[in-house]
Amino acid sequence: MDIQVIILAAGKGSRMKSRLPKVLHQIAGKSLVQHVVDNCHSMGANHCHLVVGHGAEQVKQSLEKEKKLKLSFVEQMEQLGTGHAVKMTLDGLKDDTPTLILYGDVPLTHHDTLSQLVEIHQDDPSGIALMTCLLDDPAGYGRITRDDGNQVTGIVEHKDATEAQKAINEINTGIMCCNSSQLKTWIGQLDNNNAQGEFYLTDIIAMAVADGNKVTAAQPVELYEVEGINTLRQLAELERIWQLKMAEELMDGGVTIRDPGRFDLRGSLSCESDIIIDINCVFEGQVILKAGAQIGANCYLKDCTVGENAIIKPNSVIEESVIDEECSVGPFSRLRPGTHLHRNSHVGNFVEIKKSNLGEGSKAGHLSYIGDCEVGQSVNIGAGTITCNYDGANKHKTIIDDGAFIGSDSQLVAPVRVGKNVTVGAGTTVTSDIEDDALCISRVKQKQISTWTRPVRQK
Ligand code: UD1
Ligand code: CA
Repeated sequence: MDIQVIILAAGKGSRMKSRLPKVLHQIAGKSLVQHVVDNCHSMGANHCHLVVGHGAEQVKQSLEKEKKLKLSFVEQMEQLGTGHAVKMTLDGLKDDTPTLILYGDVPLTHHDTLSQLVEIHQDDPSGIALMTCLLDDPAGYGRITRDDGNQVTGIVEHKDATEAQKAINEINTGIMCCNSSQLKTWIGQLDNNNAQGEFYLTDIIAMAVADGNKVTAAQPVELYEVEGINTLRQLAELERIWQLKMAEELMDGGVTIRDPGRFDLRGSLSCESDIIIDINCVFEGQVILKAGAQIGANCYLKDCTVGENAIIKPNSVIEESVIDEECSVGPFSRLRPGTHLHRNSHVGNFVEIKKSNLGEGSKAGHLSYIGDCEVGQSVNIGAGTITCNYDGANKHKTIIDDGAFIGSDSQLVAPVRVGKNVTVGAGTTVTSDIEDDALCISRVKQKQISTWTRPVRQK
């Protein structure tokens, strides 16, 4: 779609009561302005002009890595109004490509809704396509005025409206699409002769009509698409609306979500069939759940894959890890980056694993730390086993070969290798390699003192 976009994002957002520029607050783990940019990309726009002002550097920095489409930043030093903000971009606009105007704080407009608005404009290229909607409580918004023939004649801002105009409940969402050379002319004619002393973009509507052009209003499919963020309350409300929508899409695709009101996705979640997700789970980055996987209550999963029929029990935290089919994890497990659990392995409560492979059928059931470790197949790691992988300066590897049995409360001081089918007695500190099939034990021999008497408290 040959369209250039202006995104207005210079405002301060004082009602957010935050040091962070408003458009950098997040919904579903992504900044408001990034949502807008992504929507532009989805609709096929090729160039976005971003008007930045408050927190300009931070906003620019946040979009530094944006490669999907061309971004130009223009700084508006003083926020003299939406019309003034658009004025900043005019030099960069191509005359022969229509311009779509969006707000950086209206994050969730569907790309189809935007495309439809552009198409309405294309049907009548000298007119303006304007996104409006009907609100029960239109207070604060610009109102759409229409003539006796129901044609749009202009927009009056709330602060400039008469009582009769305030009763109008069709409001301006701020989103519009128009011819770029006409836009340049109209913007050049704006004044700030109004209640707020600002250059209102909205005044171009009446100008267009006066020039004999038609303004066609269109409505979004759903109201949330045009909802702007001014306060942290609104941010939280829109977050819940969006989360519910994503949960509903997953449910429509066959995912069981125990309570869609307690589901959070901050990235992408790809699900095969027969997945069950219990309450209060957070999914971040790219998460893949294979057929039959189950995620228990209160789990946090970031950038990971959960294999077929694997079960993640409640309160587990999993990052940058791969869990193969038939594994079970948790409750209360922590898998840190670089963990790979092979088929049918098991990690239990209060076990932390980092940068390690746990081979097929191996188990670490309770209270262990496994770091920088290669664990073979059918290994049993007893409760309280710790790989001492760090000497204060460098990390070292531990290798535990197939079939080994590590007794409870053992320490494996890396670098060290435990051979095949080795048995390590409980409480052992392993400091050097153990050959296959051996028993290794470093326990102090037990002593018994029969003559001993327990002290008694003195009166
Ligand atoms: C604007 C519209 C109003 C509409 C409402 C929808 C005007 C005059 N009014 O009002 O009709 O109902 O949005 O939410 O356009 N901005 C700049 N530079 C500025 C001023 C604003 O970049 O100098 C940006 C803001 O960061 C924001 C957007 O423009 O993203 C809208 O500005 P805001 O002050 O919120 O406009 P409203 O008064 O709400
Ligand atoms: Ca606003």
